[in-house]
Amino acid sequence: MNILTDAEDMRAWSVEQQRERLSIGLVPTMGALHAGHEKLIEGAVDNNDAAVVSIFVNPTQFAPNEDYERYPRTFDDDCAKVRTMGVQAVYAPDAATMYPPDYSTYVNVEGLSEGLCGPFRPGHYRGVCTVVTKLFHAVMPHRAYFGQKDAQQTAIIQRMTRDLDFGIEIVELPIVRDTDGLAMSSRNAYLSEEERKQAVTLYQALQAGESLIDDGVQDVQAIVDTVRNTVDPAIVLDYVELVDADSLEPLKEASGSVLLAVAGRVGATRLIDNIKVEVA
Ligand code: PAF
Repeated sequence: MNILTDAEDMRAWSVEQQRERLSIGLVPTMGALHAGHEKLIEGAVDNNDAAVVSIFVNPTQFAPNEDYERYPRTFDDDCAKVRTMGVQAVYAPDAATMYPPDYSTYVNVEGLSEGLCGPFRPGHYRGVCTVVTKLFHAVMPHRAYFGQKDAQQTAIIQRMTRDLDFGIEIVELPIVRDTDGLAMSSRNAYLSEEERKQAVTLYQALQAGESLIDDGVQDVQAIVDTVRNTVDPAIVLDYVELVDADSLEPLKEASGSVLLAVAGRVGATRLIDNIKVEVA
C-alpha cells in the first residue's frame, strides 16, 4: 500500500492507474476510522479497480471554538486497518502543505450550506468543499464515497460536483449504527458512559418521529415535537428539522423523500443523526 503525502505524488500515482484504465474510488476521511468508514472503504474497494483513502484533519472546516486540536488522530492504526481492506493508497497531506500561509481560495455552495448545521457551524461547509475540491484534484477519482450520517454534507458535495463539472460519481452509503443504535462517529470517543446513554436517545427520538410518519402523520410540528420530547433532556438541541431529502428545504408537510435530522450537544460533544423516509 502506498502512503502519499504530496498532491503531485498523489496525482502521478492516479495518472499511472488511469493510464492502465483502472477506475479509482476515493473515501475522504479525517482518520479515526470506525465501522462507518469501513463500509465506505468496502464500497470503494468492491466497486473500483483501485481504492484510495484520504486521511486529513482539515483545519478550515473547524470554527475557532471547535475541536480541531483535540480531534482524535490515530494515523498508524488507520493505516494498519485500511491495509488489510485492500486499499491501494492512502493520501495523507499535512496542513502546512495543503494551506500555505498565503492560501486564499475557497469553495462555497450557497443555499444548501445555509440551513441545518450551517448556522451552528459558520464556515464549516466552505472548509469541507474547499478540502474536498483539493482532494478531488489530487486523487482524480471516478467515484467518491460519503456517509449518510452527514446528509447535508453529501447533498452539498453532490451539488458542488455537478455545478463545477467534476465528473465524479458521488456515492452515499447508509448510516452504520452501534448495537445500541448510536450512529458511528469519530466523536463518540469523547462521550462518557453517562453521555453515551443520553446520546442513544437521538436515534430513539428519530425512530419515534419515523413511526409517526409511517402512521400517516404529515404535520411537521407534531413530528418535530415528538422527536424533541423523546431526546434526553440533558442534550442541548441545536435543531430538529424535517426537510426535503434532496433540496434540504424545510417542508410544510411530510411528503415525498424526507430527511428527519437532529443535531445537539451531549456535554461538550456535538452529535448529528438523521433518518430518510420515503412517504408513500
Ligand atoms: O466527513 C468528513 O470526515 C469530512 O468532512 C471530509 C469529507 C473528509 C472533509 O474533510
